[in-house]
Amino acid sequence: MKYFLDSAKLDEIKQAYHTFGIDGVTTNPRHIMLSGKPFLTAITDIANWIKEEGLEGYNKFPVSVEINPHLDDTEEMIAEARKVAAISPNFVIKIPCTEAGVPAARRLEKEGIRTNVTLVFSPAQAILPAKNGSLFVSPFIGWKEANGEDCRQYIQDIVTIYKNYGYYGNTQIICAAIRTPKQIADCAVAGADIVTTGLAVYQDCMKHAYTTQGIGTFCNAWDNTARE
Ligand code: E4P
Repeated sequence: MKYFLDSAKLDEIKQAYHTFGIDGVTTNPRHIMLSGKPFLTAITDIANWIKEEGLEGYNKFPVSVEINPHLDDTEEMIAEARKVAAISPNFVIKIPCTEAGVPAARRLEKEGIRTNVTLVFSPAQAILPAKNGSLFVSPFIGWKEANGEDCRQYIQDIVTIYKNYGYYGNTQIICAAIRTPKQIADCAVAGADIVTTGLAVYQDCMKHAYTTQGIGTFCNAWDNTARE
């Protein structure tokens, strides 16, 4: 399973890459805002770091960048996507799963600009991006579970549909807005290709009370073992 970092903060991206070996990055307008930088500066800084690391190419280290969310016209979406995509060969253009967005993604894919169709909240919504050849589809998990839904069946249904029709692996399923280690495990059990979440959630995956307790037990044993 691939792990993406959901952040536009360069220090977090570097840390997640060097400590956890993350496979890519997803951003959205909220993450760009939280980086404290203007849009173009934030994404150009990420693009420059990718070059320094020798990670150029969306196949090596994809970075999803969302176009202006105010756009609701296919032609305008395509025009903006072309400009953003020209900044880095790693950029995958995030487009909302709407009647205007899906045809924009379809045309961009035909031009060789890879897309991530985002803001997906149902299995039915997840079909069109796959049918139209998007590289990624982003079903959101945390927003639904925060409102009392259990997402396990939702992810499982998307995986099953993709397997039924040969989309599985071609359009990769990024489970997005992941908030807990359990949600990561649920996505992995269902067979999702990728999860994307913040650094703190990956750090939380390393924490377990028994691990801490076990280290204490073994330290105690170590300290009470005879020395040569
Ligand atoms: C996914 O690609 C999105 O960037 C992200 O997961 C949305 O969630 P958030 O902004 O609520 O964390």
